[in-house]
Amino acid sequence: MENYIVSARKYRPATFDTVVGQHSITSTLKNAIKTAHLAQAFLFCGPRGVGKTTCARILAKTINCFNITQNIEACDECESCKSFNEGHSLNVYELDAASNNSVAVSYTHLTLPTSDLV
Ligand SMILES: Nc1ncnc2c1ncn2[C@@H]1O[C@H](COP(=O)(O)OP(=O)(O)OP(=O)(O)O)[C@@H](O)[C@H]1O
Ligand SMILES: [Mg+2]
Ligand SMILES: [Zn+2]
Repeated sequence: MENYIVSARKYRPATFDTVVGQHSITSTLKNAIKTAHLAQAFLFCGPRGVGKTTCARILAKTINCFNITQNIEACDECESCKSFNEGHSLNVYELDAASNNSVAVSYTHLTLPTSDLV
């Protein structure tokens, strides 16, 4: 049981190009990275299970990568990618918006981790 990973995580695409059927989204995100025109926040909206969390995670991993490939994908080898893959990157903070859904809770989450980083 120690190496057990739920299938949604095991088979979650790890690159923009392996996301299926969402080319308009992934190419928009890639272009934003390529041209350094990243918005301050992104909202991924849509029905259940279409890849919102997947795309958000790929975006977070890619913009933190130290050696983004020519194809605008994370290198998967740098310190940032390794810590992301191992689930202990300090720059990527994933929180469940379904249970952290009030302004007060969001404010706490958003301000505490960044208060020293200005
Ligand atoms: N476009 C896609 N291409 C490939 N796999 C996908 C895609 N969308 C979803 N999946 C698969 O389905 C699983 C669930 O996707 P994900 O968690 O990204 O969906 P979601 O849109 O965030 O769903 P929810 O609304 O339930 O939060 C992922 O692990 C992934 O393997
Ligand atoms: Mg989700
Ligand atoms: Zn990297």
